Amino acid sequence: MYKSIAKYYDLLGWNEFHDVAWPRLKPLLEQNKSKSYLDLACGTGSLAFTVSRLGIEVVGIDKSPEMLQMATRRLRLFKGRAKPQFIQADMTRFSFDRQFDGVGCFFDAANHILSEGGFFNFVKNAARHLKPGGFFIFDVNTAAGLRHWDAVLFSERGKHALLMKGSYDRHTRFAAVTITGFVSLSGGKKDKFKETFHEKCYPHKYVMSCLKKAGFRDIEASPAKEGSTLRRTGRVFYTAYKSTGGK
Ligand SMILES: C[S@@+](CC[C@H](N)C(=O)[O-])C[C@H]1O[C@@H](n2cnc3c(N)ncnc32)[C@H](O)[C@@H]1O
Repeated sequence: MYKSIAKYYDLLGWNEFHDVAWPRLKPLLEQNKSKSYLDLACGTGSLAFTVSRLGIEVVGIDKSPEMLQMATRRLRLFKGRAKPQFIQADMTRFSFDRQFDGVGCFFDAANHILSEGGFFNFVKNAARHLKPGGFFIFDVNTAAGLRHWDAVLFSERGKHALLMKGSYDRHTRFAAVTITGFVSLSGGKKDKFKETFHEKCYPHKYVMSCLKKAGFRDIEASPAKEGSTLRRTGRVFYTAYKSTGGK
């Protein structure tokens, strides 16, 4: 996954989820006077760079070597006070010998985990790598959101075009989409890529039970779109704090 789209991820504007996540992440970093932040499934690193610019120590992990290669390429040009560190790791399994003030995971990266056990490990791992009282923020695509994958769509943006053939099974809660992309590059060059993405929907009740079991408190869930409800929204943001009694 993300093998062939990685080099076009930013060009296609997929890194712009940064602008949705940042207004939610920034106040948490400020309120908690965070000095360190762990970005799970950091992709090409857009948020990691923004957080680093505040002088916060950032570690970004991602499973995809191709996405990390793009992040590392950007790192060479980065002039911030503190440079983020990028590490290849699976967020359901990694183990670092340290804890952070905040942990985040954005742009439905959590839905890329395809088993309930894996999802719980992701939440447990976030807790394990947080200092007591530290915050965890992430978003998930809901059933209402993934239902839109059950379609054939064509979209054009600038000189690029995407053909998306997707499906969503509401019984198994698995979604898949195959994207064929047509990209115009400088000098009149053109390229094409094909990539299939799989996601699983985790109902609100299940997400809440994982967070509680992993020792989180003050859990808040909010629809991505103001005025929507948890049931109708396509995306939910969760914020939770590691209990101060935890290890
Ligand atoms: C939609 S992208 C989001 C990237 C970034 N968070 C952003 O907002 O642009 C999903 C990312 O999750 C990563 N990913 C999926 N499963 C993962 C896992 N188990 N551990 C670490 N990264 C994972 C993919 O490689 C990809 O970079």
